[in-house]
Amino acid sequence: MPPSGVNHGSNRPGVSLPGPRPVECGLFARRAGRVHNGAVSSAGFSSIDPAEVSGGRAWWDAAAVEYYTEHGRDLGDCDLLWCPEGVRETSAALLGDVRGARILEVGCGAAQGARWTMTAGALAVGLDSSVGMVQVGMDINRRTGIEVPLVLGDARALPFAADTFDVVFTAYGALGFLPNLAEVHREVARVLRGGGRWVYSAVHPMRWCFPDDPSVQASALTVVRSYFDPTPYAEREASRLVYAEFPHTVADHINSLTGAGFTIDHVAEPQPVPSEALRWGAWSPERGAHIPGTLIVSTHFPD
Ligand SMILES: C[S@@+](CC[C@H](N)C(=O)[O-])C[C@H]1O[C@@H](n2cnc3c(N)ncnc32)[C@H](O)[C@@H]1O
Repeated sequence: MPPSGVNHGSNRPGVSLPGPRPVECGLFARRAGRVHNGAVSSAGFSSIDPAEVSGGRAWWDAAAVEYYTEHGRDLGDCDLLWCPEGVRETSAALLGDVRGARILEVGCGAAQGARWTMTAGALAVGLDSSVGMVQVGMDINRRTGIEVPLVLGDARALPFAADTFDVVFTAYGALGFLPNLAEVHREVARVLRGGGRWVYSAVHPMRWCFPDDPSVQASALTVVRSYFDPTPYAEREASRLVYAEFPHTVADHINSLTGAGFTIDHVAEPQPVPSEALRWGAWSPERGAHIPGTLIVSTHFPD
């Protein structure tokens, strides 16, 4: 799930930006300003050397407890919430019947989703690149007694043998923080058995066109950035990249999936579920009534 909400770069305490740039914000950037407490020396859309990209590991380490404090109640400890629009696996059944299935959750955060699949009868494992997020997951394991195995690793180089899993999924994990979706899809394809499913939710590409501030209702539905602009949002401390998000288009999602050999079974752009939709920063129900905030893609890797 997305880390936070209102991300007006210019509003962030302690972050010195080179002028009022309300458009130049990451979808989750406000948290970086808080977590790093003024250490961020530059924030905005800029080019990035792909070799620098870590998925924001240190940022997520620092943000893990705060993320859980802010969103833990909505996420649940043992639940699979696909998106702030309120789509939950208990009603959506995007993974199908998981009983007896070998399941991997990538970019799992505290692995609430993987934990839920365990209670539904799956053999699950969660993987995340952030020690902080995995530690929160271990705390929840201890507290609930539902101990999903947790692995520290990178979605671009999964530490599993080929054909290990029946289902791989993520709710907002990994993909948005990496420049090249295909790197993840290829790894998922490798670890899936033939016929296995890869299901994920991610920031809807349209979201990048709008300012990330739901409180500015009048302008919040005015396009302020080109849908076609692939320039990532980056935060640096001194010259070190600490956080990045990458706008991917719908074509990027589709072409990277088919290029990796997946068959796309279903695509969803959920509207907020009445009574279920969450007030999750800029994924507000008010905005969600007009533009999609989440893209959910269900695929399988052919036999
Ligand atoms: C928005 S959070 C979502 C977490 C969880 N799925 C949820 O719904 O709460 C994104 C997660 O992706 C993880 N992540 C980012 N890049 C990654 C990568 N390359 N490999 C594995 N995890 C990654 C982050 O550490 C973070 O835990």
